[in-house]
Amino acid sequence: MPKSKDESVLNPAERSEDGTADRALRPRTLEEFIGQDSLKENLKVFIKAAKKRSEPLDHCLFYAPPGLGKTTLANILAKEMGVNLRTASGPILARVGDLAALLTDISEGDVFFIDEIHRLNAVVEEALYPVMEDYTFFISTGKGPASSTLKLAVPKFTLVGATTRSGLLTGPLRDRFGIVAQLGFYGPEELRRIVLRSSGLLNIPTDNDGADEIARRCRGTPRIANRLLRRVRDFAQVDGDGKITGDVARHALAKLEVDAEGLDPMDRRLLKAVIEKFDGGPVGVENLAIAVSEELDTVTDVVEPFLIQAGFLARTPRGRTATPKAYAHLGLKAPRRALDLL
Ligand SMILES: Nc1ncnc2c1ncn2[C@@H]1O[C@H](COP(=O)(O)OP(=O)(O)OP(=O)(O)O)[C@@H](O)[C@H]1O
Ligand SMILES: [Mg+2]
Repeated sequence: MPKSKDESVLNPAERSEDGTADRALRPRTLEEFIGQDSLKENLKVFIKAAKKRSEPLDHCLFYAPPGLGKTTLANILAKEMGVNLRTASGPILARVGDLAALLTDISEGDVFFIDEIHRLNAVVEEALYPVMEDYTFFISTGKGPASSTLKLAVPKFTLVGATTRSGLLTGPLRDRFGIVAQLGFYGPEELRRIVLRSSGLLNIPTDNDGADEIARRCRGTPRIANRLLRRVRDFAQVDGDGKITGDVARHALAKLEVDAEGLDPMDRRLLKAVIEKFDGGPVGVENLAIAVSEELDTVTDVVEPFLIQAGFLARTPRGRTATPKAYAHLGLKAPRRALDLL
């Protein structure tokens, strides 16, 4: 499994603390879910309509970089529909039998959540097609001439899939989802509300300036906002009086090597590699991953989406290129070529 960047900087103890706290901070209803307003409004309509028809919600696919709320939304959909949530993930459903075991456990209307759905193997994926289409599951028994195919009826349920990139999904699988939604990075105002909500739940005194500082520097990602909040709290308690103010947050974030734009050491290492090792690019993402000793998936799914969205990196047909903003941010002089990108 590719290691997730925002876990990689934590030791195992911190990771489990973060895991538990993450769940505690997870919004439970659409009302509590901050941001992604148009998606939220649409989901409200779809839920209401499905309830009115006494039908399960249509299958939903959420795609977004890590930490933007895909798992949270799957939980919320089950809760709002008043049904159970069953959870699996692409790599865990290795064989058709694994899928069969889960499907026999499903009740009418349930939400069946498959995380990392792009990592389903082809055989399991194909077995899923008729299940998604008309709730029939074909399972073959025996081998050779003695083999036969059993046809099983599955209760009507809602499949919710999550993936970090929609491009990784095969067309036929993607086409079987009635609702396909991309979650974008969050804006500073939404993140400020997320930080204030979390500090309320965790009993951390935080003023607006402190919340703003964290909101601006969390790579547009609620999970990172929550993680930074907990780390800043550590500094507030050890170096201050426990209260998170703007000054405390700036001091802590500097110690955590999160810069004014929210870039962390990995982000800066990647931009530096493009500029210094590949002359500003274009460089293929495979070569870039090798240059920074990271897994390809981590670079494409975790590091690069925010750098592109924030305008530090550009994706061109020939590879990744550092933008003038990247040069300026690192205090380097951009060559004329990079300025042409403006
Ligand atoms: N819209 C939101 N409002 C408030 N908090 C949020 C929101 N979205 C996410 N969070 C917080 O961020 C955490 C991470 O979200 P979540 O686990 O849903 O991300 P994900 O997209 O499933 O990530 P991954 O791809 O790594 O599985 C949640 O536990 C929750 O505390
Ligand atoms: Mg998730």
